[in-house]
Amino acid sequence: MLKQKRNPSNSISEVVKALQEEAKQSLEEGFVYFREDLKAPKGKAGAVSTLKTNSSKALEAYKDKIRGCMKCGLGKTRQNFVFGEGDPDAKLVFIGEAPGADEDEQGKPFVGRSGQLLTKIIESIGFKREEVFILNIIKCRPPNNRQPEPEEIEKCIPYLYEQIKLLKPKIICTLGNPSTQTLLNTKEGITKLRGRALDWNGIEVVATFHPSACLRNPAYKVDVWKDVKFLRKEYDRLCGSSN
Ligand code: URA
Repeated sequence: MLKQKRNPSNSISEVVKALQEEAKQSLEEGFVYFREDLKAPKGKAGAVSTLKTNSSKALEAYKDKIRGCMKCGLGKTRQNFVFGEGDPDAKLVFIGEAPGADEDEQGKPFVGRSGQLLTKIIESIGFKREEVFILNIIKCRPPNNRQPEPEEIEKCIPYLYEQIKLLKPKIICTLGNPSTQTLLNTKEGITKLRGRALDWNGIEVVATFHPSACLRNPAYKVDVWKDVKFLRKEYDRLCGSSN
């Protein structure tokens, strides 16, 4: 809610300040700032079909094939292999870095604190979490949440490539430096890469900050909000807003 009342006699700078404050407050409330024009597209939202599509079958078969992976040391320390989850026919895919403790325990991506924020971010642009697909660069939790080692990424990344191949998304949103830099094979930082149209093998990529960065520093939420508004615009352009 706006604390400072807007009235016609306010100067432009007062109005701008009030609008900034309004946006900041909405963001701090946790991405519940829902714009009418970003409501979930008709026809896609609602009950998720229980009928298995070809991509659903192919993804399930692939999951069964790789879930017992022991190619790196994380196979020995994990509780669960975190394949990823969502709508197998999703046109929009989010990619994070690696499962944390909650994800390892439940075998699902982004279910801890940063996952709750990611869900709000997804909802803020008019999707339900189960309408998109959520993946990670690596599928097993590094002990004590340390950064994945290059060797672990090297062993695991072919799984991500295959998942993208099976999902055939129109647009990918990478979350944070490690996932953006790994997918795009670049050393360029997220601050330079975020919020614009990038490319991975003909699939558009939009990078933004990781939700855990927003939890550490809430000021990042303003940039994430800008980035995901752009993501939604690009989604509509690529998929048609009625998809
Ligand atoms: N952070 C990630 O990058 N991925 C998860 O699944 C959870 C937290």
